[in-house]
This record gives sequence, C-alpha cells and structure tokens, in this order.
Amino acid sequence: MRPTPFFLPVPLPHTTPSPLLLLPLLLTLTLLPTPSQAHGYLSHPPARAAGPATSLACGKPITDAIQRDNTSHIEGLPELALAADSGFDASACNLWLCRGIQFADNNNIQVWRAGQTVGVKVKITIPHDGSANVSIVDAARNEVVGDMLVFWEAGYANEREFFAGSLPVNNTEFNITLPDVGARCGRAGDCVLQWWWYGKGARQTYESCVDFVMVPAGDKAGLDTRAEGQFGWRRWVGLLPWRRTRADEERPRKAFSSRLDR
Ligand SMILES: *[C@@H]1O[C@H](CO)[C@@H](O)[C@H](O)[C@H]1NC(C)=O
Ligand SMILES: *[C@@H]1O[C@H](CO)[C@@H](O)[C@H](O)[C@H]1NC(C)=O
Ligand SMILES: *[C@@H]1O[C@H](CO)[C@@H](O)[C@H](O)[C@H]1NC(C)=O
Ligand SMILES: *[C@@H]1O[C@H](CO)[C@@H](O)[C@H](O)[C@H]1NC(C)=O
Repeated sequence: MRPTPFFLPVPLPHTTPSPLLLLPLLLTLTLLPTPSQAHGYLSHPPARAAGPATSLACGKPITDAIQRDNTSHIEGLPELALAADSGFDASACNLWLCRGIQFADNNNIQVWRAGQTVGVKVKITIPHDGSANVSIVDAARNEVVGDMLVFWEAGYANEREFFAGSLPVNNTEFNITLPDVGARCGRAGDCVLQWWWYGKGARQTYESCVDFVMVPAGDKAGLDTRAEGQFGWRRWVGLLPWRRTRADEERPRKAFSSRLDR
C-alpha cells in the first residue's frame, strides 16, 4: 500500500504573495500527517530501538525516520544518509545489521541458555509476500551463526492471506529453541537474535534485533546481583567516537530487566 499522494488545494501563485497569505497553507502542510509506510517489527522479546548511539552512528535523518516509523524498510534509509551533515558513518551505522540500530541504545538484554525455548512475536502492519528467517547473527561479522532457527522460503506475510485473515499464525507467533552459541555469544553485544524479512514484490527488507547473552546452564545468581554500573558506563562508551571494543563487553554486569522466557 502506498501513501495517497496529495495535491495542493490552491493554485501555485505567479507572484509572491504576502507571507500572511501563505500562513494557512504553511499550517496545513505542517499539520498533515506524515504518510505511514509501516510494515513490521519483532515485538517480543523486546527489540532494539533507535536512540542516541544510533543517531551518532547513522545520523539524525535516519534515526528520526526509524523513530517515526519503527516498521520501516532498510532500502529507504541510505538516501537519508546523503542529506548534508546527516552525520552518517556507514561502517559504524552498519545499516544491514539490525537496520543500523545500535547495541548501545538497548538496555534490555535477554539472558538465555542453550536448549531454552523462546517465544517470539512479530507485528506485521503491511504485508508483502516474501521470505523470512529468524537467526542468531554474529554482530561483529554480520554472519548467521549456525543454522537459521526458523526459515520461510516463500509465502511469508502474503498479502492475500493477510487481508483474508488467514495468514498462518506462525508467521507472527512461534517458538525457537536456542542452540548452544555460548562460545560466540557469551557477552552482550556479541550476537543478536535477528528477525529478517524480505518482501519480494516491494523489494524491501525489514530487520529487528533482540540483544541477548548466552550463559552456561546454572549461571544464575551471579547475573542478578551484578551492578548496573557497567552497563551505564558501557552505554556512554558506545557514544564515544572510538566506540566499543571487545574489552568493553566483558560479561554483562547488569541486573537484567528481562526475565527468562520459558
Ligand atoms: C515500535 O512502535 C510501537 C508502536 O509505536 C511500539 O509499541 C513498540 O514498542 C516499538 N518497538 C520498537 C522495537 O521500537
Ligand atoms: C536470513 O537472514 C539473514 C539476515 O539475518 C540474511 O542475510 C539471509 O540472507 C537470510 N537467509 C535466507 C536464506 O533468506
Ligand atoms: C507453520 O505451521 C505450518 C502448519 O500449521 C507448518 O506446516 C509450518 O512448517 C510452520 N512453519 C514454521 C516456520 O514453523
Ligand atoms: C511455545 O511453547 C510453549 C511451551 O514451551 C507452548 O505452550 C506454546 O503453545 C508454544 N507456542 C507456539 C506458537 O508453538
């Protein structure tokens, strides 16, 4: 669905009208709602949302666009980076991982164990038939770790089914069983759980990322008692130009706000 184009209700003046005459037009333009291009996002577990670190890496125009519509596709973003002084840093922003939304903006780190079942929910607002997968991705390499956990080769978010109310429930609600990725995903920020969807007609890619850390079975008490401090500090480091190093990301020491999914 495309936003309906609108046409100015008044003929364009041939002479410059007085600013007072332009006022109603300006007001109208300001108050018109921004056309919505909403499509989808992962709604549970809580996914990364754009904040100051994203603004620093990707620039304000991209960050504003994502905040305005957190379901938007990646292909629409690069052109915003071209805006003068947009502050876009291609390698720091890394648009094709998590749509550029930065780890440092996420305070909500899941604590997961190998073998655990996690319920995932996706919100689709505008369908586009295509393929999709949910995978653990090594954040430094933007590389799927092991096998995709769920994979739809075709027929994901089919328009006809969506509007008929017959979209398979498991397009938007499903369980994943976590493989043992403790060796690669033992520190917050190492990996993300990424929902990825490509609408083939629209040629649009959607991504949402859940941050997690995989802890060994039995490692529980420690996690709950660790101080908020390191994460608060880490968030600031994420905002510094030289950004985070692996050393910044020693074992997380936050009283994680998220609970374990069962
Ligand atoms: C996306 O926006 C919706 C509605 O505004 C909000 O409920 C949801 O938490 C947001 N999610 C993310 C990941 O930004
Ligand atoms: C699965 O998602 C990843 C992004 O997380 C993407 O790079 C990859 O192409 C997708 N795989 C398939 C087979 O569609
Ligand atoms: C979704 O459910 C259908 C049948 O109910 C099943 O055939 C399909 O494999 C499921 N897909 C996924 C990705 O779980
Ligand atoms: C996910 O697993 C839980 C139990 O672990 C089960 O109750 C629930 O029905 C499952 N959901 C789906 C969509 O398969």
